[in-house]
Amino acid sequence: MPDTTTFPVQDHVQATFLETLRFRRAIKSFDPDRQLDPADFDFILQSGRLAPSSNGLEPWNLIVLREPELRAEFVRRTGAAPAQAAQASHLVAFTAKTAKGIDPAGDYLAHIATTVHGLTPDLIPARREGFRNFLANRIEVYGSPEATFGWTARQAYLALENMLVAAAAIKVDTCALEGLDYAQATAVLAEAGLIDPALDAFAVAAVFGYRSADPKRPQVRRPLEEIVTWA
Ligand SMILES: Cc1cc2nc3c(=O)[nH]c(=O)nc-3n(C[C@H](O)[C@H](O)[C@H](O)COP(=O)(O)O)c2cc1C
Repeated sequence: MPDTTTFPVQDHVQATFLETLRFRRAIKSFDPDRQLDPADFDFILQSGRLAPSSNGLEPWNLIVLREPELRAEFVRRTGAAPAQAAQASHLVAFTAKTAKGIDPAGDYLAHIATTVHGLTPDLIPARREGFRNFLANRIEVYGSPEATFGWTARQAYLALENMLVAAAAIKVDTCALEGLDYAQATAVLAEAGLIDPALDAFAVAAVFGYRSADPKRPQVRRPLEEIVTWA
């Protein structure tokens, strides 16, 4: 199979970054005996934290499932592949805000506006109204729990991607996990008291560790000419 991922690069920085992107593969089986250095995992978490998000709302959280029984329960009930979800060094569940969790009138918006963005309390009513207008008239999700959660979950995916790339930069293997039972994932987290499912729900997961086998197939992508239209 031809290697469709190579292309000319201009300098060392580009070559290094390209090497990082090419190192990152969806790893199917992890070495259960190799754990991440805590400082390396912290670097990966910090990289997720620095992800951009719409309106700067960071409408997601990371739950690192490290308690063995809880992790086993999560793997069993979500149907996650054990070679990935049970064997990798770290398993992270990304949760995203529900429509109620991100409600313009709710606590989370006020928390971000004041504690993170530094707005004074007198500015909060206008911020609430501006955000409601954004949800209702710009991205048109207001009133639809599914569409609103789709929007918050999309923000979580940006953190996911930052973390996958950060891991690859330090030669840590990863795989995003979408093929799970989402209702069960949310239920496991809620039953463990880790989320209030009215406010937060499971969005996606990822594993971090070291591969026990290389991917069977080469990394392939569509050519740029098929992907990009210059207009
Ligand atoms: C959001 C997302 C979810 C994914 N879910 C799974 C999954 O549940 N199981 C799996 O083995 N791979 C999963 N993958 C890996 C993709 O299949 C993989 O990234 C794609 O085939 C390209 O291969 P590469 O990552 O090795 O370049 C997922 C990837 C993304 C981005």
